[in-house]
Amino acid sequence: MCYNCGPSRRSFTTLLAAGVGMAALAACSPDGRVASTAGSPSSSLPQTATATPPSGTTTAAPPAAATEPPSSAPASKAPPSGVLSQQFSLSDPASQWVIVNKHRPLTPLQFVPPDLAQPRVQLATSGEASLLNATTAAAAEKLFAAASSEGVTMTLASGYRSFQTQTATYGGYVNARGQASADTASARPGFSEHQTGWAFDIGDGGGACSFAPCFADQPAAVWAKANSYKYGFVVRYPWMLNGITGYYYEPWHLRFIGVEAATDMAKRGIGTLEEYFGLESAPGYP
Ligand code: DAL
Ligand code: ZN
Repeated sequence: MCYNCGPSRRSFTTLLAAGVGMAALAACSPDGRVASTAGSPSSSLPQTATATPPSGTTTAAPPAAATEPPSSAPASKAPPSGVLSQQFSLSDPASQWVIVNKHRPLTPLQFVPPDLAQPRVQLATSGEASLLNATTAAAAEKLFAAASSEGVTMTLASGYRSFQTQTATYGGYVNARGQASADTASARPGFSEHQTGWAFDIGDGGGACSFAPCFADQPAAVWAKANSYKYGFVVRYPWMLNGITGYYYEPWHLRFIGVEAATDMAKRGIGTLEEYFGLESAPGYP
């Protein structure tokens, strides 16, 4: 399964150590703190990625019509009908399939989830950042419990962020490193999955690699990458797919889309929601 195709972690580490052509990479720290990290230069990264169906399967069937595509977005495709028992809106921020990226702001821009709840998991944050929408909170409890049962410590490092908080977070990045670099790591207000309540960042209880590339090698990230689909989550910003998602690798950022869709994505080796739902790549703001 090629769930997160790209160079090995070893080669990534080597590249980082060499510092060859690496652009600065930030993280979605809740307080606007800019992690000292580095990522891959977009110029050397693929602008598209091809999802390869697992052997024994045929090419995906024609997609079913998506529900409620936003007027500014191209017609959306949904996963093949018949594969999933339910279809959800790609534009309603209360939908578990809502796609938020640099081409698809939240509508309304200052959306607030109506059902914010604090999951019963190990928290590494407080206040609104410890909240998720109710569905994601329930799924997160199962995810964290499963990780714990396998000896993996996982913490909730950053969950919900209001439009106002994202404004401050993004502003912190811009002040620290300029807008172009900030845009590779932090979403502009109204463009962040964190504002939907469907996404959160994990930590490992240690903190040495929090929001840094080396987090990918920590047990929490390794476990999440391999298992999170079973609980309905995807690693939303995979390694080497920033040409599609618009963001460098964030092994800590998990997004709930439901067990059925996440499992289907994983089985078919599709790395991004844009590809899965047949949406255009969103490497930059229009
Ligand atoms: N770090 C992600 C892209 C966010 O700011 O939502
Ligand atoms: Zn995040």
